[in-house]
Amino acid sequence: MSVNTNDTADTIVHQDLEHICASAGGELTRMAGKRLLITGGAGFLGYYLVQTITHYNATRSAGHPIELTVFDNFSRGVPQWLEGLRSKLNLVRHDVRHPLPTNMGHFDFIIHAASIASPTIYRQDPIGTMDANVNGLRSLLEYFKGEKETGRPVGGFLFYSSSEIYGDPDAANIPTAEDYRGSVSCTGPRACYDEAKRYGETLCVNFARQHGLPVKAARPFNNYGPGLKITDGRVIPDFARDVLCGRDIVMLSDGSATRTFCYSADAVAGYYKVLVRGRAGEAYNIGVEKPEISMAQLGERIVALGAKLYGYRGKVVRQTSGDADYLVDNPNRRCPIITKARTELGYEPKIDLDEGLRRSMVWYGGNREGVA
Ligand SMILES: NC(=O)c1ccc[n+]([C@@H]2O[C@H](COP(=O)([O-])OP(=O)(O)OC[C@H]3O[C@@H](n4cnc5c(N)ncnc54)[C@H](O)[C@@H]3O)[C@@H](O)[C@H]2O)c1
Repeated sequence: MSVNTNDTADTIVHQDLEHICASAGGELTRMAGKRLLITGGAGFLGYYLVQTITHYNATRSAGHPIELTVFDNFSRGVPQWLEGLRSKLNLVRHDVRHPLPTNMGHFDFIIHAASIASPTIYRQDPIGTMDANVNGLRSLLEYFKGEKETGRPVGGFLFYSSSEIYGDPDAANIPTAEDYRGSVSCTGPRACYDEAKRYGETLCVNFARQHGLPVKAARPFNNYGPGLKITDGRVIPDFARDVLCGRDIVMLSDGSATRTFCYSADAVAGYYKVLVRGRAGEAYNIGVEKPEISMAQLGERIVALGAKLYGYRGKVVRQTSGDADYLVDNPNRRCPIITKARTELGYEPKIDLDEGLRRSMVWYGGNREGVA
């Protein structure tokens, strides 16, 4: 898949949905005719998680659609793309920190993605962030357990954990495999997120073991791509916003921290694989192994891309964040080993960084809401 000059945001999304449906075709077919609940479906990963199902139903379901329900508290409003899908799914305003609705009905599959994910934003509501990942998760697991106990089929439960559960690994544990135990502060400014995800995984493992439930966890490593709001506060949309505004790219660090970035269409195919085929009580890294690049190198790539796509003439400049905690406990390096997902689930990311960044920048060009 390559972006040509005629590509628009819409064609990118269509190609990506085809890519996900092809990569996770077997897993989607296993959910045909079943009921799926996605919490946090209005967010970035929800953008492709949700549209994958409606696209599958429209193009491949052969009369056995996956019946989709989305729960979200819509703290940032109902996004336009989701509003447009109202007739194709059940959209429910629900905050997962509160008790579940009494009229839930049955769900065969559950994806719990509801959580603030942006460090800039979760630091403003640390307790709310913990509650969504601990209490919200617990309610859903109890519900799933109840479904099993009343003899209803339970196909799979996916909890969105995070690569942040590894904290700031020592050099010997980079790249990082699932059996690394982590180096995490339990009181620092990121702890509300990291520790809630860690406890969430502990809940998942023990519901799987004690109650025989097919509960799994995914650990996303820096996903990016269409659907990630340009105002989200994560690095790629921040840089994209600077390009589209025609101003210099502002880097709020010395640029030395490194990451590997995984394009969302590859990642979402991986998440459906974990949900349907992952082993109960197991966690899977979902990301890419290379290239591991510094924020300074990322900035340069986006400058070059901006020049090619939009005639951008800016450069990368350094500034200090007004948020004193911006860099506290920020891992220096983050890079996964994905052998477990690759060998057990057939997860194989295909869209390389240059291609993914190009696709993202074209998408941002067509989705400028919030560019200022
Ligand atoms: N995107 C990544 O690279 C990444 C990395 C690690 C982990 N994750 C995890 O994946 C999941 C999805 O991440 P995302 O990037 O789509 O985040 P996002 O912030 O874009 O979307 C999260 C969605 O959850 C909703 N939400 C938040 N709190 C809620 C609550 N209490 N009740 C109901 N809805 C609530 C928000 O309204 C939003 O629509 C999160 O659990 C996140 O922690 C993502």
